[in-house]
Amino acid sequence: MAKILLDCDPGLDDALALLLAHGDPDIDLVAVTTVGGNVSLANTTRNALRLREYLGFDAVPIAAGAEGPLTRPAANAEHVHGAEGLGTVRLPEAELAASELSAVDLIIREIDAAPGEVHLVATGPLTNIALTIRRDPSIVERVASFVIMGGSFTRGNATPAAEFNIFADPEAAEIVFAAGWTVVMVGLDLTLQAIADAEILARMAELGPVGTDLAVPLATFWTNPDDAEWRGQAVHDVCAVAHVTHPELFQSRRARVEVETAGHHTTGMTVVDFASAEPNAIVPVRLDVDGFWDYALGAWGMVGRVDRAGTIGGVDPRA
Ligand code: BDR
Ligand code: CA
Repeated sequence: MAKILLDCDPGLDDALALLLAHGDPDIDLVAVTTVGGNVSLANTTRNALRLREYLGFDAVPIAAGAEGPLTRPAANAEHVHGAEGLGTVRLPEAELAASELSAVDLIIREIDAAPGEVHLVATGPLTNIALTIRRDPSIVERVASFVIMGGSFTRGNATPAAEFNIFADPEAAEIVFAAGWTVVMVGLDLTLQAIADAEILARMAELGPVGTDLAVPLATFWTNPDDAEWRGQAVHDVCAVAHVTHPELFQSRRARVEVETAGHHTTGMTVVDFASAEPNAIVPVRLDVDGFWDYALGAWGMVGRVDRAGTIGGVDPRA
């Protein structure tokens, strides 16, 4: 059983990553922390709270973190995720509140509760993680692993050079990569192999309400009309969670990763040196695409939607 703490900015694909972390019976989701990124912190937190109740993981604490980057004005990706962050998905308002702890306090509490056992997975800008390291630099020695969705070694998406999560807070990313742990950098080059194309969407729709009401709308909201070769959305953040439980689905290389914070055209770029004698990262480069989808769809299919009225998938299980 892998303990995972997910720091995220839901976000279409963050929501799908949460769905995996909740659905896989071999994952013990110990906590969720939120950060401003794709949309405002208020909206990422609201989305996490709504997803928790909709999916029924009420016992998992959720704590809000940083509203914006360490030093820069906030960027967002509302044009990708919609103004509220979950595209067309409208979930019932949550009844349960967020934790009174800050994200930093919750991260430290959960890691200290099980030293060496918690896999910290970050799928948004790295602001909360940098703030945690600033508070307690020794935390890097007490995680089981640290996995991010972010960065790239060939191309960007926020800019030609930079991937969104790193671009949104490069100073935080610089702190995180320099912290003395090994960062598993699940970047764009990898995640763009995990495309929810027509065949995958058909399999998603067969999962029942969790597919038709949640996964399919999340995985289809964003389309890129400028991409002549468009096959579907990449489920970036899902790959980071999958790496914890199924690293064998990924071919990876060691590398030294530095973050550009002062570039004219390259701010937020991850400069990846696969030849470095001083690696600080593991960089997955190739995905077993079929194995990945079998895993993700299988785990999503194990989720029963449970709402406050006690119904599963809109059907009263007692009837
Ligand atoms: C990353 O940026 C966000 O828009 C997504 O949620 C993902 O974490 C992809 O570049
Ligand atoms: Ca994200």
